[in-house]
Amino acid sequence: MSLITEEEGVFHLRGQYSSYVFYVLNDGRVMHLYWGAGIREINLDSLISQFFRGDSFNGRNTDFDGMLDSFPSEYPTYGTSDFRTPAIEVENIDGSSIVDLRFQKYNIFKGKKKLVGLPGVYTESDNEAETLELTLIDNISKLEVVLSYSIFENSDVIIRSVKLNNKGKSNIKINRVLSTSVDLKENSMEMIQLSGSWARERRMFREKLLPGSRIIDSTRGESSHQQSPFIALVDKNTTEYEGRVYGFSFVYSGNFIAQADLDQFGTTRILMGINPFDFNWTLKPGESFQAPEVAMLFTGKGLHGLSSQYHNIYSKRLARGVFRDKERPILINNWEATYFTFNSKKIIEIASKASEAGIELFVLDDGWFGHRDSDNSSLGDWFSDTKKLPEGIAGLSDMVNKKGIKFGIWVEPEMISVDSELYKRNPDWCIHVPNRDRTEIRNQLVLDITREDVRNYIFDILFKLFSGSNISYVKWDMNRPLTEMGSSKLPAFRQREFIHRYNLGLYDLMDRVTTAFPNILFESCSGGGARFDAGMMYYMPQAWVSDNMDPLDRLKNQWSTSYVFPPIMMGAHVCSSPNHLSGRVTPLKTRAAVAMSGAFGYELDITKLSEDEVLEIKEQVEFFKLVRGVVQFGEFYRYLSPYENDAASWGFINVEKSEAFVMYTVTEREANQEIQTLKLYGLDLTADYLVIEGYEEGLKGRNGKGVVLGGDFLMNCGLRVPDSSCPLDSFVWRLFSI
Ligand code: DGJ
Repeated sequence: MSLITEEEGVFHLRGQYSSYVFYVLNDGRVMHLYWGAGIREINLDSLISQFFRGDSFNGRNTDFDGMLDSFPSEYPTYGTSDFRTPAIEVENIDGSSIVDLRFQKYNIFKGKKKLVGLPGVYTESDNEAETLELTLIDNISKLEVVLSYSIFENSDVIIRSVKLNNKGKSNIKINRVLSTSVDLKENSMEMIQLSGSWARERRMFREKLLPGSRIIDSTRGESSHQQSPFIALVDKNTTEYEGRVYGFSFVYSGNFIAQADLDQFGTTRILMGINPFDFNWTLKPGESFQAPEVAMLFTGKGLHGLSSQYHNIYSKRLARGVFRDKERPILINNWEATYFTFNSKKIIEIASKASEAGIELFVLDDGWFGHRDSDNSSLGDWFSDTKKLPEGIAGLSDMVNKKGIKFGIWVEPEMISVDSELYKRNPDWCIHVPNRDRTEIRNQLVLDITREDVRNYIFDILFKLFSGSNISYVKWDMNRPLTEMGSSKLPAFRQREFIHRYNLGLYDLMDRVTTAFPNILFESCSGGGARFDAGMMYYMPQAWVSDNMDPLDRLKNQWSTSYVFPPIMMGAHVCSSPNHLSGRVTPLKTRAAVAMSGAFGYELDITKLSEDEVLEIKEQVEFFKLVRGVVQFGEFYRYLSPYENDAASWGFINVEKSEAFVMYTVTEREANQEIQTLKLYGLDLTADYLVIEGYEEGLKGRNGKGVVLGGDFLMNCGLRVPDSSCPLDSFVWRLFSI
C-alpha cells in the first residue's frame, strides 16, 4: 500500500503504526485532522465535524465559516482571525502582515529530495520513502509556500520542511518561517525538554502544559548548551515502554524555537523552526527560501518507542560516510591530561602507553598551533608550534603511528584570536559591526563564514593540514556563541539574515571538508555539547556530549541525549579522578562502564596512573572491543533512570537478540541497602541466556562463568544485582542466548 494517499482532498500519511491526516476544504484552506495511532479508514465527515461548532458543518465540500481561532491549520498564518502563534509571518510590500494561504496543487512521489545547502535525512533508494509536496499560495502577494512531508517505510518518522517561493512582483520580507506546525486535539499533555548549561547539558524536564505558550529556544547562533532543539509531548502516564509520545527534532544547528501552545479550545499547537528573534529574510521576486527539516514522529510505545525510531533513522539515514556503519576507534585525548602544557615527548609517552593498553587512536587536542599556551591566542594560525612540537604535525603523527596507534587532531576552524597572524592580516574577517566593540568570549572572536573568501581560506588551510599528515580523526570544536551578529558583506536590509547565513556557511564548509577527506572520522564539539544536534550529525557522525565526564553527571546527560541520538553518536570518555569539574571521586570501573555506552575513549594522563590502573584500563579496552558491535549497532534500552532512582541502568541488545551488554551504576548508597533487582527489557522471551557478570569473566565470552536465565525470567523476575562493595560502584553483564 502507498505510504501517502489522496482521496477527494483527504491526505493520509501512513506510518508503520501511525496516521497523519489533513483535508483541503472547498475554500482551499488546509485543515489538520489527525495525528496519532494508525487508523485504517478515515470517516471524513465524522472527523471534520469535530472541528465545526454548532451546525455550521455542511458536509465535506464545505468552506470554513467560523473564526480561524478554532481551526486546526496545517500551516497557520496571521492576520485573518487565527490569533494563536503563526508558523509564518511576513511584511508585504504594502506594509501589512497578512498571509492567507490556499491550496494550489500537490505532488506525491517516491523517495525524498535533498535540501540544497542544508543537512537532511536521506534515502538510499526511492523505495524507502514517499514524499508529498503541498503547494499553497497567498493570492494577493503571490507568496508560494510548499509544505513537504516525507514518510519512510516501516517507520513512523515524518520529515517536514517548508520552502517559500516569491512568485509576485514585489519584495516580501519574511519575519518568521517555521518548519512545522501541528494542531493536536489534545488538552492535557506533558512536554519533555532537554535543558541545562555548559557542563550540564540536556537535563530532562517534564511538565504539564497549561493554557498559554511554553517556549524553548536559542539566540546564541548555535543550538546551545542551554536548550536542545528537541521536544516531546507525552501523556501523564507515558513511561519508557508504554504510552503515547509525539517527538520533534530539528535538523539544524543555529537559532531555533520549539513551542507548545495550549489554546482556549483545548488544542495544542506545536511549532518548531528557525528562531524568528533577530531573523528576517528578504525574498525578491523569483527568489526562494528553504527552511530546515524537522523529524517528527508519533509512537504509542513510550519513550523507548521514540528513541528507537530516532536512533534508527539518525544512525542510518542522517549520518553519512564510511564511518556510519563502522565501529568507532577507542581513543585517548590529551586535553584533561595536559591542557596547553605539553611537548612531543609527553605526547609520545601518552600515545605509547595508550597503545600498549590497546587504545586505537591518539587525539591531540587544543594547544598545538601558533604560540597557544593558553586560550588567549593563535586561533586561525593553523601551523604547529615548533617550540612544543619541533617535528611538526606531520612528524608527530608519524611518531605516534610508529607506536602502533592512529593520530587525530583538534581544530576550531570558525574562530580567530586577536593575538594571531591571521587577525593581523585580516582584522575585518571576524564577525563585527563597524564602530561597535567586538565582544570576546573565551578570548576569541568568530570568523565571518558567511563570506566565501573566508570559507575558502579556511578550507585551504585545513586541506593542507589534513593532507600533509597521517590524520585519521578530527575534532571540530566551537567554543563560543555569536555576538555582534552581522557581516560587512551584507547590505543593511539583509543583516538579520546573518545568523542563518552563518549556519549555511558552516554547512558548506563542513560539506567540502568532509567530502575531501572521506576517510577521516570527524567528531563535532562545541565547548562540550552546545551543538549536539541533528544538523551537525549529517556532516560528522559523532559529537562530544559534554566537557563534564563525571560519570554520575554523564548518566543523566547520556540518558536524556539518548531520547533522540543513538549511543554511537555520543563521544564518551573516562576522566581522571577526582573529576576536574565536579571534584567527585569515582571508581575507574564506573567511569568506564558509563563511557562504554557510546563512542568510547579516555581523557586522562595514562602515564601518571599506577600499573594496576593501567592493567584495569587494558582489561576495559579488551572488553569494550568485544561488546563494541552490540553497543554501537544494537538496540538501546533504558532500564533505570538516574533522574528517579539511586542507581541507573541501561542495556544494548543486538538485532538478533542473541547478545546483550548491560550496565548498572549505583548513584547513591546507604548502609544496609535494600536488595537490588534489575528487570531487563527487549530480550527474546523464548530464549535462554547465559548471563555473565564482570569484565574478567566477560572477556571469556561464551566460555565465561555465569548463570543461565530465560529471557522471560530476566524481563519479569529480573536480575539480582550484586551488593556493591564501594560507593558509586558499577556492574556490567554480557548476555548470550544459548
Ligand atoms: C572545549 C572542548 O569541549 C574540550 O574537549 C577541549 O577540546 C577544549 N574545548 C579545548 O579548548
